[in-house]
Amino acid sequence: MEVTVSRHAHFNAAHRLHNPNWNDDKNSDVFGKCNNPYYHGHNYELIVSVSGNINPETGYVVDMKWLADLIKSKIEDRFDHKNLNEETEEFKNLNPTAENIAVVIWDILRKEVENSLKLKVTLYETPRNFVEYSG
Ligand code: NI
Repeated sequence: MEVTVSRHAHFNAAHRLHNPNWNDDKNSDVFGKCNNPYYHGHNYELIVSVSGNINPETGYVVDMKWLADLIKSKIEDRFDHKNLNEETEEFKNLNPTAENIAVVIWDILRKEVENSLKLKVTLYETPRNFVEYSG
């Protein structure tokens, strides 16, 4: 019996979408406002979902406190109030789209969640735009 538990978290970050192999016109055409050379911010909403069997001893799939602390220490502390392009190793050479941010977050968390559990990351870049990644 598989049950999914999810934790909703939040961070603010600045980014710029840019492909260094393209000229300014093409970058502007493709990325629009997100190509602004002076960066801009988003209020990212993050949902981390873990699926697996209920542990009969605890009644939990995972301890929500553990999951909340994990997201805080590994994701929020790393990315909150950061300029993703300039201040994080992960996005020095990787365009910080919602897609790539979701994959980076999943890769970080996958190392921390035991293999018997499934992991899914949902990332809202705006209230209307979100991406999902499950590996
Ligand atoms: Ni943007």
